[in-house]
Amino acid sequence: MPFTQPVRIAPSLLSADFARLGEEVVNVIDAGADWIHLDVMDNHYVPNLTVGPLVCQALRPHTNAPIDVHLMVEPVDALIPQFAKAGANIITFHPEASRHVDRTLALIRDHGCKAGLVFNPATPLSWMDYVMDKLDVVLLMSVNPGYGGQSFIPATLHKLREARRRIDHWVAQGGQAIALEIDGGVKVDNIATIAAAGADTFVAGSAIFGQPDYRAVISAMRAELAKVTTQSV
Ligand code: DX5
Ligand code: ZN
Repeated sequence: MPFTQPVRIAPSLLSADFARLGEEVVNVIDAGADWIHLDVMDNHYVPNLTVGPLVCQALRPHTNAPIDVHLMVEPVDALIPQFAKAGANIITFHPEASRHVDRTLALIRDHGCKAGLVFNPATPLSWMDYVMDKLDVVLLMSVNPGYGGQSFIPATLHKLREARRRIDHWVAQGGQAIALEIDGGVKVDNIATIAAAGADTFVAGSAIFGQPDYRAVISAMRAELAKVTTQSV
C-alpha cells in the first residue's frame, strides 16, 4: 500500500549555522524541505539551552513554510502565547513537563497553532489516550532530547508501529488527521525503515546541515521514501 498521507521533511535548525539562521532557513526550504523544526531548550527540562520566541519571530519573514516549534521546556504554558505571536505554526511539548496536558493542548489550539505531544524514548504512549481529539501531531523522540547528532534508538521502531496503529484506529473511527513525526538520528540510510514503521514526518538536523549540499540530502531522503511501498504496521 503506497503512502496515502503526505510525507514531510523537517530540518532541525539545531545543527544549522546560528550566525546565519535566516539564510539557512531560506536555503533548506529552497532545497526541498517542508517544515522548519525549531528546538527550544531551557537548561531545565533538558541539559542544553537554545532559542526563544525572539528567534522564531526573526525567522518568520524569511519563509512561508510552517515553523514546527519543539518545546523542551518546563513549565510549558507561558511560552505558548509568545511562540504563537512569534509566528509558530505547530507547537509540540513533552507531557511530563506540563501539569495539565489537556489544558496545554487546548491553549496551543486556542492560539491558532497545531498542537502535539512529544514522547521521549521511555515515555509511554498512554499519555495520548484521553486527548486524541486535541492532537494534530504525535512526535516520537528516537534519541534522548537535548542534543543533535545522536544515534537512532532502534526500540523506537516498535513504538512507531504502535503509534501508527493508534492513529489509524482513531482516523478510521472518524477522528481528525494526526501527523506522526520522528525526531533524532534520522539519516538517508535509515529513513525508509523508519517510514515503513509508520512515520510520515521526519526531523533531521545533522544529516542535512552537516552536509554542504542540502538539496542532495533531501533528494536522497525522498528517493528512499519513494521505495517504501508497504507500511508494516
Ligand atoms: C534533539 C532535538 C532534535 C535534534 C535532531 O533534542 O529535538 O530535533 O536536533 O538532531 P539529529 O537529526 O542530528 O539527531
Ligand atoms: Zn526536535
